[in-house]
Amino acid sequence: MWQNIEAAPADSILGLTDAFKKDGNPEKVNLGVGVYKDDEGNTPVLSCVKEAEKILLASEKTKSYLPIPGDPGYGKNVQKLLFGEENEVINSGRAVTAHAPGGTGALRVGGDLLKKFYPDAKVWLSSPTWANHNAVFSAAGFELEQYAYYDAENRQLDFDGMTASLENIPGGDVVLLHTCCHNPSGVDPDREQWRRIAAISNEKGWIPFLDFAYQGFGESVEADRFAVEQFAALGGDFLVASSFSKNFGLYNERTGALTLICPTQKEAAVAFSHLKTTIRVLYSNPPAHGGLVAATILDRPELYSLWIEELGGMRERIRDMRRALVEGLVARGVEGDFSYIARQRGMFSFSGLSAEVVDWLRENKSIYVVGGGRINLAGLTSKNIGYVCDAIAEALQR
Ligand code: LMR
Repeated sequence: MWQNIEAAPADSILGLTDAFKKDGNPEKVNLGVGVYKDDEGNTPVLSCVKEAEKILLASEKTKSYLPIPGDPGYGKNVQKLLFGEENEVINSGRAVTAHAPGGTGALRVGGDLLKKFYPDAKVWLSSPTWANHNAVFSAAGFELEQYAYYDAENRQLDFDGMTASLENIPGGDVVLLHTCCHNPSGVDPDREQWRRIAAISNEKGWIPFLDFAYQGFGESVEADRFAVEQFAALGGDFLVASSFSKNFGLYNERTGALTLICPTQKEAAVAFSHLKTTIRVLYSNPPAHGGLVAATILDRPELYSLWIEELGGMRERIRDMRRALVEGLVARGVEGDFSYIARQRGMFSFSGLSAEVVDWLRENKSIYVVGGGRINLAGLTSKNIGYVCDAIAEALQR
């Protein structure tokens, strides 16, 4: 059955982790997949998660199916986190939320839902974007387009290019925006720029689809929702795919959400009915554990405070590693200005390393970087930073 079929290529991000695991070099460093590591190189279970799991272990009474959109308490908590407790979007009931299997699951559910009702829409992605965005929306049957985003020469947002692109996108098309900690560049619009982007969406009538996978990794849980607030204030339709993989460290629990925000509660009820039929044919209903853990933490002030503290610790450690990388490269006399690495936000930096250097680092130093030069700063530790700086310096000075 498969003899005439060529094997598919390895995934550009998760495939690197497979190769990394097979690498026998004791000094190997994985700067590929976007997973947080502590300074010991481990991806810890957060203490707030452990505490919530104790509560669940004692109180859980069934493993019966969840409703199609997941536990209603989970949906409420997701909305509180996305919009802030007293937001009009919540009070008016014009948002509906379903637990989706991770941010990727939320994007695909959203894609399938939109394709049903807007089959001719195109999906616009930032240039560059997370590799899986292309795959997810193509799989949902969409034609893809790109809008300008990153100015590689000056290593900053190409805001003029971006707004020029966004102003030319026809009403009814879908525009995927990274709410904070842009993956892969680490470069975000500032507040004034977000106001402008939201205003353009309103003028042109395209549908904003926000990918919100890194809430809390930019500035704070509250500050990072600024873009969401701008679209909410317009009173129109938009979608948010969010994830607890990174900020709760719930990677393998597949704990994400798709939230549909509509102009009225009545429309939200219609949208919710179709969201449920879309989910039913994809995976029927979501896995329970991660959602229950997240809701347990978000419901209890003492666990919420512990989470905020642990999230702040992750964010600060990544910032420290950004600074250490810049200083390490400068100390080794590597030519160029690397200060942009310290200014970027979230887990990633578009390092500017060429494909040749990326290959050389993997083949000669067992340092794994995603093609295109995206570095996961969270993979750096105080133990491996010297090794990585030496290797990059050697690669660039060859
Ligand atoms: C990443 O960008 O590395 C993460 O979001 C993991 C993934 O699924 O690609």
